[in-house]
Amino acid sequence: MKKHLQGINPFRYGCVVEDSFYCPRPSLERQLAGFIRSGQNVVVHGERRMGKTSLINAVVRGMRGWRMLYVDLLHVQTVGDVCRRIVSSVRNLERKASLFEKALKLLPRLRPVMKVDPATGEFGFGLDARAAEDPYAVEEVLDMLAKVAANGRTVVVFDEFQDVGNLSGAQTVLALMRGRIQFQGDVPYVFTGSVRSRMVELFDNPDSAFYKSALTLCVGEIDRDSFASFLQSRFETGRRRVSDETVSAIMDTVADVPGDVQQLCEAAWGVTSGSVGVEDIEAALQVVFMREGDKFESFCERLSPVQFKLLMGIARLGGREIQSRAFLDEAGIGNAASARKAAIRLCELRYVYSFRGEYRFSSMFFRAWLLRRDY
Ligand SMILES: Nc1ncnc2c1ncn2[C@@H]1O[C@H](COP(=O)(O)OP(=O)(O)OP(=O)(O)O)[C@@H](O)[C@H]1O
Ligand SMILES: [Mg+2]
Repeated sequence: MKKHLQGINPFRYGCVVEDSFYCPRPSLERQLAGFIRSGQNVVVHGERRMGKTSLINAVVRGMRGWRMLYVDLLHVQTVGDVCRRIVSSVRNLERKASLFEKALKLLPRLRPVMKVDPATGEFGFGLDARAAEDPYAVEEVLDMLAKVAANGRTVVVFDEFQDVGNLSGAQTVLALMRGRIQFQGDVPYVFTGSVRSRMVELFDNPDSAFYKSALTLCVGEIDRDSFASFLQSRFETGRRRVSDETVSAIMDTVADVPGDVQQLCEAAWGVTSGSVGVEDIEAALQVVFMREGDKFESFCERLSPVQFKLLMGIARLGGREIQSRAFLDEAGIGNAASARKAAIRLCELRYVYSFRGEYRFSSMFFRAWLLRRDY
């Protein structure tokens, strides 16, 4: 079909959403903005694809006179990576070379050098590799960060913060970070991450350096009515008519997870023209499976027979009573101890997560795909 007849894809997933792609969440936004304005540190908890990063971004963008120093810590391997990510976020914030140079001067131990690409005028930096691997380097970098932040109202956002817990010597690095951050009373820090259980471990476990160091904000599903009207208007933008019933069925299919809802809407939009009905959802799911089926297939190949039975059991019967006789019989698992062990593995692999005594699928598409397979 010609693009102009089909319209432009009105949905976005797998990325931070802004502007017309972002559905406002007034109550959470007010709370987060309030915490930031009063200089509090906050940890934003939530399951994957709930919209944590988008929420934080929208809140800071909406706060006049404030700027965001956003540090993505995904897959940091060493303390040097942490230092470089922070310095690089300062570079993104201070777009004037002179300001960035001033910031680099605050890192004497790291012997920074400023580099300018002669072709583009873009500036970068280098740090002494050995010095950056000393855990204490992170103190110097955080002090620099605080000075930069003091030049204007600045929120520091540490995203994918749980990955700092993976470093060798993580306890030391976290303790040093906490030590510095707690004296930076004027700078609000927002911590978040996509692995909820690990973030909870960092902030709610008495043995962790960050224990009780921040207020908590939980991001769950988007309020159903507002998300439904938002999606309706996105469909309209993409030249589709859609009933309340269809939008509601789409949300049900993926348990209201905002990222998955947008993904399914995009697929539904792609397989239709004119109007979208409940009967189109299956075709939309097939589009998603076509794109992701190989990945799901390889997820299954990693499992032992018992782990696979448990996964299928949770898909078919729900994840509440996995150790009950009824569940074990239905799922074909010999005893409760095997189910428990298999559940630990499924959580480690992040196929499922445990929430209030129930195992839930991390991806409802994976569950839907499993249920449609002929085993
Ligand atoms: N407020 C929102 N309005 C519309 N869609 C949203 C909203 N928040 C999240 N989404 C959908 O969810 C997707 C993921 O959003 P985002 O990256 O902000 O979530 P996250 O919780 O940070 O995810 P992760 O846990 O993977 O880091 C977006 O691409 C979008 O499809
Ligand atoms: Mg995120």
